[in-house]
Amino acid sequence: MSETIAVIPGDGIGPEVVAEGLKVLQAAVGTDTYVFQHHELGAQRWQRTGEVLPDDELAALAQAKAIILGAVGAAPGSKAIPSGLLERGLLLKLRFSFDQYINLRPSKLYPGVATPLSESVVAQGPVDFVVVREGTEGLYAGNGGSFRTGTSQELATEISINTAFGVERVIRDAFRRAARRRGKVTLIHKHNVLVHAGGLWNRLFTEIAAEHPDIETDYLHIDAATIALVQDPQRFDVVVTDNLFGDIITDLAGAVTGGIGLSASANINAEGKYPSMFEPVHGSAPDIAGQHIADPRATISSMALLLDHLGRPEDAKRIEAAVDADIFANGTTPGTRRTEAIGDAIAARL
Ligand code: IPM
Ligand code: MN
Repeated sequence: MSETIAVIPGDGIGPEVVAEGLKVLQAAVGTDTYVFQHHELGAQRWQRTGEVLPDDELAALAQAKAIILGAVGAAPGSKAIPSGLLERGLLLKLRFSFDQYINLRPSKLYPGVATPLSESVVAQGPVDFVVVREGTEGLYAGNGGSFRTGTSQELATEISINTAFGVERVIRDAFRRAARRRGKVTLIHKHNVLVHAGGLWNRLFTEIAAEHPDIETDYLHIDAATIALVQDPQRFDVVVTDNLFGDIITDLAGAVTGGIGLSASANINAEGKYPSMFEPVHGSAPDIAGQHIADPRATISSMALLLDHLGRPEDAKRIEAAVDADIFANGTTPGTRRTEAIGDAIAARL
């Protein structure tokens, strides 16, 4: 019996790149493995109906085996969306409701891909690492408020939530992933200043590291980590960090490895109690929407993450290899092939 995958194409280039993701997914596993159930959510839905994520949609999504999300965001000239409405009301609501505590973001510098890294840094060796970003806590938790709002005496707080439970499970996940890779985990935090949250992260990291004598460990403060990403990205294998540091560092990681047009991501509930969600890191790029020039390879790589999560690691590797080969053969110059042509070419390699 086929399993249901919920699809939220979203806005802008979202539907264009998602179509190619589904094409490649089906090329990898056939047309009978999954049925796709489309959900119209995002800026256009809100502009049309005033709804962001109605309860019945959330309930339907909860039944799916996995969720594929394109991108959401308003088109220029359309009704403006209040800042945070889609972020908090849709994306983060999905991540939190479905306890997607592992935000997994791989970065690989492909040979021949244009990078802002210097030649001497590229010559140091292959860049291939994955960030395990905590996805449900930290400064994203929504614990804050404002008082005397809008006055010159306004007071605003945003408190970072870090639970031992939440920190432990994400660090354990990072160690498990390192064991499947090159065997190194780097914790990124700022425990010299954020002594409470950083203290908790550092202590649990040290304790869990002691259980894994075969895994090499490393620590960087977030500020130093931005330097290392630009000057010595080869030092990273698995990075584990909190929600906001992970948000920032993965944009930088995407930028130094050829642009976020190639960056895949997964929001994983490792126990499978809730559906995990797979999405490109990039946004809805309304400036190029409808032109069929968007690069679908971040979405296609996210399909590999989906298959790996759904217990099909061999199929995932085939997609990864097909994307690698496509990038190697065709590079990343934007606009040289249509979105559909890139999807067709990768599907054909499977
Ligand atoms: C991302 C995005 C989101 C985040 C926003 C849109 C809520 O920047 O997926 O990295 O901050 O996590
Ligand atoms: Mn981000």
